Amino acid sequence: MILPVIMAGGNGTRLWPLSRGNYPKQFLSLHGEQTMLQQTLSRLEGIEHQPCMLICNEEHRFIAAEQIRQLNVAHSGIFLEPVGRNTAPAIALAAFKALEQQQNSGVDEAILLVLAADHVIEDIGAFQTAVKHAQEHAANGKLVTFGIVADKPETGYGYIKRGDIVASQQDQIAFSLDSFVEKPDLTTAQQYLSSGDYYWNSGMFMFKASVYLHALKQCSPEIYAACQLAMLGQANDSDFIRVDTAAFTACPDDSIDYAVMEPMCQQDNDCAVVVPLVAGWNDIGGFSALWDISNKDQDGNACKGDVMTVDSHNSLILSDDKLIATIGVNDLVIVSTKDTVLVAHKDKAQEVKTIVNELKALQ
Ligand code: GDD
Ligand code: MG
Repeated sequence: MILPVIMAGGNGTRLWPLSRGNYPKQFLSLHGEQTMLQQTLSRLEGIEHQPCMLICNEEHRFIAAEQIRQLNVAHSGIFLEPVGRNTAPAIALAAFKALEQQQNSGVDEAILLVLAADHVIEDIGAFQTAVKHAQEHAANGKLVTFGIVADKPETGYGYIKRGDIVASQQDQIAFSLDSFVEKPDLTTAQQYLSSGDYYWNSGMFMFKASVYLHALKQCSPEIYAACQLAMLGQANDSDFIRVDTAAFTACPDDSIDYAVMEPMCQQDNDCAVVVPLVAGWNDIGGFSALWDISNKDQDGNACKGDVMTVDSHNSLILSDDKLIATIGVNDLVIVSTKDTVLVAHKDKAQEVKTIVNELKALQ
């Protein structure tokens, strides 16, 4: 059966000052009433699955627990990381736990459905169909990725070169995975885009726990060993699962994309498949993406909170408390929170990361 694993330990710095270290984007309502985490969980309704596992930072435990409680969905534990070590270790903890549960209960090996907690997916039906299709390939021992049709040379994504068709069921096709390249430079991304052979990696994966751990051990043995050690020191505290702090802190910091997918696909071109996903996917990687998916008024402005616009166009204007009034401006991002006002050109808004880094350096 499917075991959803929700990765919710990112910082979401590109949405600062909306997304903050103590309240990152996966816990915010950015598109609709529910938070991004809640939408991720709700999207699973209708898929037969085991109770979910969630992995987040110790600092966010009560936010995560409360958001899950509000939905009233079953979960089998919230892993708390003492420090963020990126997604390869986070998934390893879940995989070790899944194998442990399997040994204790004697049920068939679960297939992990690894999900980011901060994606928008408009067509839930298409998502669920792709998951069911991917399940077959994961059950056959493949590392399964979900490919998004690339429409711009985005350098913040992984790129998947598709190979031959490996299955075709009605309108569901899967391809073997020729290569996986995480976050290429712009020139390379442009080449990939124009070749038409590449998908973006959606950041969601499906595989058996043992298949992931085997690949991790082969490609990044230090991460495997550190997580194995961290799990030996695990301690349960009601819904929370803590791991050995020293062992986990000593773990190398790396993503599944760099630590497993890229090297594994180089070593063995039969280890992975890509299931295309056409479902209105968006990872809200920055303010420009948030503007793209938001409802707009007749002037192309996407506004939230107390906002007045005169002769202003194509802007994203969000206010937490005070009135924001604009006259004669276009293509801006204006975000006002209790303690901060950000004003940026929409095309430059990705650079808020620079401000976040400078602020960190001052602390
Ligand atoms: N538990 C935990 N611990 N979760 C984490 C950590 C961590 O240390 N770091 C990140 N996450 C979570 C984030 O909250 C998010 O839900 C997910 O893992 C992905 O992390 P990102 O930091 O957002 O990754 P990315 O956007 O740079 O790249 C990934 O996603 C792209 C698509 O959105 C890669 O998989 C790319 O290949 C992919 O194209
Ligand atoms: Mg992301």
